[in-house]
Amino acid sequence: MRAYRLNGAGNPLRPVDELDPRPGPGQVLVDLKAATLNYRDTIVRDDRYGGEQKVDLIPLSDGAGIITDAGEGVPRARIGERVAIGFMPGWTEGSFSAAKQAGALGGGFVDGVLAERIAVPATGVVSFPDGWSFEEAAAYPCAGVTAWTCLFGGRGVRPGDTVLVEGTGGVSTFALQFARAAGARVIAMSSSDEKLARARELGAEALINYREVSDWGVRAAEIAGGDGVDFVVEVGGSGTLDQALAAARPGGEVALVGVLTGFGGPVNTGAILMKAINLRGVYVGSIADLRAAINAGVRPIIDAVFPFLEADEAFAHLRSGHHRGKVAIRIAE
Ligand SMILES: NC(=O)c1ccc[n+]([C@@H]2O[C@H](COP(=O)([O-])OP(=O)(O)OC[C@H]3O[C@@H](n4cnc5c(N)ncnc54)[C@H](OP(=O)(O)O)[C@@H]3O)[C@@H](O)[C@H]2O)c1
Repeated sequence: MRAYRLNGAGNPLRPVDELDPRPGPGQVLVDLKAATLNYRDTIVRDDRYGGEQKVDLIPLSDGAGIITDAGEGVPRARIGERVAIGFMPGWTEGSFSAAKQAGALGGGFVDGVLAERIAVPATGVVSFPDGWSFEEAAAYPCAGVTAWTCLFGGRGVRPGDTVLVEGTGGVSTFALQFARAAGARVIAMSSSDEKLARARELGAEALINYREVSDWGVRAAEIAGGDGVDFVVEVGGSGTLDQALAAARPGGEVALVGVLTGFGGPVNTGAILMKAINLRGVYVGSIADLRAAINAGVRPIIDAVFPFLEADEAFAHLRSGHHRGKVAIRIAE
């Protein structure tokens, strides 16, 4: 098969030929059709993800394809299933653990999906609706599941709640769509008025350009009315957390997801306790979450699809920040 392997930060990616993987006991072989990129893939590629990592890792966590072989103990009837592969195929359900995290694809020492084939646990894949493309299915494992657990992993968004989403990337666009599907009001933010107009088309009720409104958290709380917003999907990290806390109502939830402005920094602990905010760290989710997210029926926004041989161009597009929703790579027709 052909596969991409990392070859040092900053170096161009080139596909290499290697032996096909074979499904072990309890595994399925998936012929990959599509992959999508996440911000995480850029920091893995730059060797900034934290912790040790295999130097020649196959990158990317999010893929979808067709089961073409089944290992011992897996019914051969599964061959032919169209599936999305879980971000952590070993976390089927229940509570999170370091061992489950260590099994995340496309990081650390675990090869990912930017290849023509992968062998994964049969319990680590989820089928998706017939009318969906492989790119749509491949949008789900990280971004879709993360947005899902941000909104439904705690108290759970209810009709009439107000949800603030930061930016229009993969996680935030999914969050906007899931929140609207659940009957919530959405306040969307972006650095681009054009992207805000697209967010409006997806049902965002109020829009804030965070480049123009530096105290956007205060603005969001005013727009929400009452005491502030019920949920914030916080993808910025230390550079945005204070405003996210300002936006949240007392007792509201802030799902801490992202590191776009960096991994660490000062935290306004006073605001967290004085408003009794539920600040919840999110690390993607389980296979059960992937199934629940797909079953919600939201069709992901795919910004661009690059051919397999243009992986570098796909990375450059994601890094440019010009995208909205997901950037995909078509691995095979
Ligand atoms: N913890 C987890 O489980 C988990 C899972 C997935 C992702 N993440 C993290 O979540 C973040 C987003 O990931 P992604 O894959 O969705 O990224 P992405 O597709 O690259 O989207 C990033 C978008 O965020 C917006 N943004 C950038 N800087 C911002 C700022 N200072 N304030 C508000 N918005 C800002 C921009 O939107 P506009 O262009 O509209 O301005 C940008 O396009 C990353 O830090 C990623 O590592 C964490």
